[in-house]
Amino acid sequence: MNRQKIVAGNWKMNTTLAQANELVTKIVSHACGFNQVKAIIFPPFPFITEVKKMIGDEKTISVGAQNCHTHSSGAYTGEVSAGMLHSVGCQYVLIGHSERRNYFKEKNSDLVLKIKEVLANKLQPILCVGETFEERKAENHFKVIIEQLTSVLSQFSITEFSQFIIAYEPVWAIGTGETASNEQAQEIHAFIRSIITDIYDSAIANNISILYGGSCNAQNAKELFQCPDIDGGLIGGASLKADDFCQIIGSF
Ligand code: 13P
Repeated sequence: MNRQKIVAGNWKMNTTLAQANELVTKIVSHACGFNQVKAIIFPPFPFITEVKKMIGDEKTISVGAQNCHTHSSGAYTGEVSAGMLHSVGCQYVLIGHSERRNYFKEKNSDLVLKIKEVLANKLQPILCVGETFEERKAENHFKVIIEQLTSVLSQFSITEFSQFIIAYEPVWAIGTGETASNEQAQEIHAFIRSIITDIYDSAIANNISILYGGSCNAQNAKELFQCPDIDGGLIGGASLKADDFCQIIGSF
């Protein structure tokens, strides 16, 4: 089994250009220690080109976008297409982050359209899934994950799916300081792999990277990353501190 280990930093709506510069410069200076781990930075749209330039030839670090539109071009004021992202050197797009599902009412059917655009432009989607606190309390978390995954994956062939990365982000753990326990995270990651096996096959299920997100930090990353089905992290708050982010990358 040789899954790509990934640590992705989702900056959300944070940083100025000057702060982005400082952060990336520090991360790049640590990159020689990243070994086999791929680091992906998801800055806000306006800084993508600049961040890409700052990374330069550093192969261990890639740039992604936090979102894209469902259409390729046209009269959609304020929106950004996957083709635009490809043209500025993005390689990844976050799809279906819980903040987009919640605040912007993105439905699974929207995510399918976005991923079609992402793949058509030779980018890789990081599909985010995860249950809310209420859903876990009601013991509906497995049902929610099945629904979120099958409604999207059923629309893609195995060849298309081979480009996916999955992120499990329990909503109750995002930005709360309340990380899922290793057991809780491992249980869902293994469950996600079993769903992928059911939809496609076990070979692809064993090859797909599944990241954990939700209050993952420099203190708890090591234990989480030791779980057999956790292939890395999608980091929010801690990705805004270069030292913490690099320490997380060094946690495998
Ligand atoms: P935090 O690491 O701040 O909890 O955010 C996780 C997240 O939403 C990453 O996409």
